[in-house]
Parts: sequence; structure tokens; C-alpha cells
Amino acid sequence: SKPWTVPALAQAKRDGRKLVMLTCYDHGFARTLDANGVDLILIGDSLGMVVQGHDSTLPVTVEDMVYHTRIVARGLQRALLVSDLSFQSDATPERALDAATRLLQAGAEMVKLEGAGHKLEVIRFLAERDIPVCSHLGLTPQSVLAFGGYRVQGREDAAAAKLLADAKAVVEAGASLLVLECVPSALAEKITAAVVVPTIGIGAGPHCDGQVLVLHDFLGLDSGHRRPKFVKDFLGEGGSVAGAVRAYAEAVRAGSFPAAEHSY
Ligand code: KIV
Ligand code: NA
Repeated sequence: SKPWTVPALAQAKRDGRKLVMLTCYDHGFARTLDANGVDLILIGDSLGMVVQGHDSTLPVTVEDMVYHTRIVARGLQRALLVSDLSFQSDATPERALDAATRLLQAGAEMVKLEGAGHKLEVIRFLAERDIPVCSHLGLTPQSVLAFGGYRVQGREDAAAAKLLADAKAVVEAGASLLVLECVPSALAEKITAAVVVPTIGIGAGPHCDGQVLVLHDFLGLDSGHRRPKFVKDFLGEGGSVAGAVRAYAEAVRAGSFPAAEHSY
């Protein structure tokens, strides 16, 4: 069995050990990431943008997620595999159970879903059925239409208080991991201190228990969008894809990435 299990994540937080995560969509990258120090691999529905060329994650289907999960799972010996529940596949507990079952049967070991509110019931429903859940709060890309774009979340006091309450609620509902996307560093720090499960930041400052980046941003591929502020060029530093992954893993573990310049 793999060294990274769901209980091992909470233990890593208790030990003060930072978690290294990257997104991944295919077998060759899966092997390279797994062999070079990545602890957690996310099959993100960001694949709708970086692999499929859509301008949001909304067109991604459960079928797409199952396909990428299956091909990545075959490449992993070490990293824990997390797969996203695609847009509205988690709209009700029953739908989410169907989608999550398919993802776990394809090789995922945890599913990620966005938001709190009515999703608390979904998280509880899955967790009670022994399906490990990662919550995703802050800039939740499946909310792009409601948000009116992709922007930093939780800047105002009321929004920050709501995000902190949501973080406590998703963990109370049974989430084993919490991704925080594009929130101010100080808020991410507060949330990280308030929950027993590890927080994984992306554009959420240096105080989270781990970090994640979208692979294509990490490698500097042209996504058709401006390179986000929270990305650093590890490829230049590492000299190869494997070297970049090692440099990223070392920087996350040492706490030197992200720095203030990558944070809000
Ligand atoms: O889909 C994705 O890549 C994600 C990360 C940005 C956390 O959800
Ligand atoms: Na996602």
C-alpha cells in the first residue's frame, strides 16, 4: 500500500510537516511527479481549461474526470490521488455518491468538492459512507458565473468571517483536507489554525499546511490567460521537469514558497 493515506494527512499536520501537491492529468506526468517528491496529486477539473481549452471548468463531465483519474492512477506508487467532482455532479448527495463512487473505482482515494452551504449535507453524506472528502473554499472556479469572474475572496471582514465559519463547518461535516484558493494570507493563517485537517493553499500565502499549483501554470505553459501572481518559475531553477518538481517540493517543505510576492 502507499505511504500516503488519509489518516497520514492529519498526522502530517500534527507533526508540522508541509504537504506538496500538484495537479496532473496524464500518466507520464503522474510517474514523474510521484517519483520526485509530490505527496498529493489532484486531478483538477482545471483540465477543462488547461487540457480541453474551455474558458471555465463548467463543461467538464464526470466521464472526463473518470478517464483522467484512471490514466493517472496507473502511474502512482506513493502520492495520494484526489479527483474533483465536476460541475453539479455534487449538486445532491445521491448524485455526488454516484460520481464519487465512479472516481474511487477509477483509482481516486479522495474526492474534492467546492463550497459549503448546501454542500455540507453532501460532504456529510459521502464521509459517512467512507468516501474521503477534500473541501475547496475561497475562489471556487465552478462559481465563476455567480462571482462574475475569478477574483480573490474573503478580503472584506464579513466575507472573511463567512469563510472562516465555512471552513469550520466543512471539517465538522467530515472533510479530511481543505483547499484554500486565492484568499488573503492572514485569513488562510487563521483558518489553518482553526481546523484539525491540513489546509492546502493556492494563492493563499505561506501559512497553509501545504501548497498546490496547476501543473500547466507551474511549467509556464501558455494557458491563454495571464500567469497568476502565485506561480513561480521552478523550471528555470530545476533545469528539467523532474528537477522543477523537486525544487518545488523542497521549497514548500522548507517554507520558502510561497513568499510574500506570491501572496495576497
Ligand atoms: O481544478 C483544479 O486544478 C483545482 C486546484 C486549482 C485546486 O481545483
Ligand atoms: Na478544481
